[in-house]
Amino acid sequence: MQLHRRNQHPIGILKNAIYDYFDTNYANKFDKFDDLSPIVSVKENFDDVLVPPDHVSRSYNDTYYIDPQTVLRCHTSAHQAELLSKGYKHFLVTGDVYRRDSIDSTHYPVFHQMEGVRVFRPIDWESSGKDGTTYAAEDLKKCLEGLARHLFGAVEMRWIDTYFPFTDPSFELEIYFKEKWLEVLGCGVTEQEILNRSGNADDVAWAFGLGLERLAMVLFDIPDIRLFWSSDERFTSQFSGGQLGMKFKPFSKYPPCYKDMSFWISESFTENNLCEVIRGVAGDLVEEVTLIDNFTNKKGMTSHCYRITYRSMERSLTDEEINDLQWNVREQVESKLNVVLR
Ligand code: DAH
Repeated sequence: MQLHRRNQHPIGILKNAIYDYFDTNYANKFDKFDDLSPIVSVKENFDDVLVPPDHVSRSYNDTYYIDPQTVLRCHTSAHQAELLSKGYKHFLVTGDVYRRDSIDSTHYPVFHQMEGVRVFRPIDWESSGKDGTTYAAEDLKKCLEGLARHLFGAVEMRWIDTYFPFTDPSFELEIYFKEKWLEVLGCGVTEQEILNRSGNADDVAWAFGLGLERLAMVLFDIPDIRLFWSSDERFTSQFSGGQLGMKFKPFSKYPPCYKDMSFWISESFTENNLCEVIRGVAGDLVEEVTLIDNFTNKKGMTSHCYRITYRSMERSLTDEEINDLQWNVREQVESKLNVVLR
């Protein structure tokens, strides 16, 4: 659906606002990519950015595999190595990314990220008296603090040390927003191995990756991630190109409908698989899936009870419709997940 390429859509408006920041501060420096295919190789998505062979993100439970060598990219970092090899030194990559996950108001199996990379040559840092890594880390922090101020105004920020396979050192930027610290992006100084392999052995680089829905939900006051996919005019008409400050006015909240289901799980059971099946039947009518009870009996059998919340963003649902869905969900869960309904 290319939400990130629609200038009147919150995701596109946010992408353009970030472009503006880079255009203002680094005129004509950053190359922009927003239509690279989301179908990438396992090599591009994981190996090329040094994700270890046993990392959880590689599992079939977390990533959508098309075949054993091909995935739907789970992050825009999948394009770093290729663009570096092609000789790009400053670039932004925006695109849809895909992850298997649980279901709630902030998680959806497809969302959008923007990746930024900047390469420095020795001549850039040599006269500073700093080593390349220190120089890049300082430049990175300055750049991203400026971006956060461009988007959020004068906010309080803090840097958290963290780990990513593709950067060292690695950081997260958090901003203080509505009485909470909110993680807005991950970043760091690119692992030298990535530069060595892409023909940039003498250089250093920084990189960052940010989630556009996460930021847009905060900036536009959008309460549920499913709304981004709505074609309801009451949603789409509230945003206009170039306007970052608009606050979304919920058009109405339709009543939720709760259904519980309990089953004995098997060893292979995972919540992500359950959510995939439920989403497959009920689509965007599922608002949340929560584990509300969990016990193991004397025979060692484990039972889970999940509460499914159904709610449409656009209309009232009928009992009949939900009952049909729920029967369908029960049938599919039992036949696809190797569990025994109770
Ligand atoms: N790929 C990371 C993710 O999806 C985000 C990220 C972190 C990208 C650090 C970067 C980086 O380029 O340097 O969670």
